[in-house]
Amino acid sequence: MDQRFLGKVAVIAGGTGGLGRAVSRAFLAAGARVIATYRNQNEFDTLKADAGAAGSSLAGWKVDVTDENDVRQFTDKVIAEYGRIDILVNAVGAFAGGTNLWDTQPKTFDQMLALNLRSGYVQARAVVPTMLEQKSGVIISIASKAAVDHGAGASAYVASKAGVVALMDSLAAEVKGRGLRVNSILPSIIDTEANRKAMPSADFATWPKPDDIARVILFLCSDEGKLIHGASIPVYGET
Ligand SMILES: NC(=O)c1ccc[n+]([C@@H]2O[C@H](COP(=O)([O-])OP(=O)(O)OC[C@H]3O[C@@H](n4cnc5c(N)ncnc54)[C@H](OP(=O)(O)O)[C@@H]3O)[C@@H](O)[C@H]2O)c1
Repeated sequence: MDQRFLGKVAVIAGGTGGLGRAVSRAFLAAGARVIATYRNQNEFDTLKADAGAAGSSLAGWKVDVTDENDVRQFTDKVIAEYGRIDILVNAVGAFAGGTNLWDTQPKTFDQMLALNLRSGYVQARAVVPTMLEQKSGVIISIASKAAVDHGAGASAYVASKAGVVALMDSLAAEVKGRGLRVNSILPSIIDTEANRKAMPSADFATWPKPDDIARVILFLCSDEGKLIHGASIPVYGET
């Protein structure tokens, strides 16, 4: 039985999403106490039911991670209840594409920055002081292959994800030597239900699976990953 994270407190923002739910399940299976943020109650209830006996170590909070007050209240509640936060995985995000930059509406541009970039800033701002006090903690942000592979037709998404990598790199430099580790993950197209529906004729076999990406995240958060700090890890599968 995997008990690598026994007693650890892991916050998984977007912990009911296509990738987030695999990450939540993996931490639960490895003994962590998991707090998943969600927006849709049904999705959280399903995650809890699917977790079986491990579901007793799963809590959930409805949080809008773009709202600083909401995130701060949530973080304060977690610290009051659990006494610490060992791991923060930010799996919140959204995609917008299919238009050239000059046809991209300002509203779409702002949404990409809010969900993909600002969410990470707001959460790190709330959690890092506690991790610094603890002299330990791991932060993982889910960026994207698009953060380093700047193709046409998704400029707002690409820029927001490149921003995630820059934000986490800079944070990593700030906390270096103080017991914290900060890394980004760069998935290509993930094999989620939503992507299968959106691209029915694609070869799903080549896409990285959520459970496989979750395993990489657990490795990075574990003692085995203790040398990795300030990195952006590609998880491209065969794409
Ligand atoms: N899927 C891919 O192919 C792919 C590729 C590269 C990178 N990524 C990145 O990987 C991460 C996870 O992707 P995914 O496919 O799992 O996406 P997803 O299924 O859409 O999950 C995103 C999660 O974020 C939550 N969320 C959205 N807006 C929020 C807000 N304002 N406050 C709080 N939570 C909010 C969603 O909640 P609701 O379900 O209630 O909206 C959902 O739980 C994202 O950062 C994404 O950009 C995904």
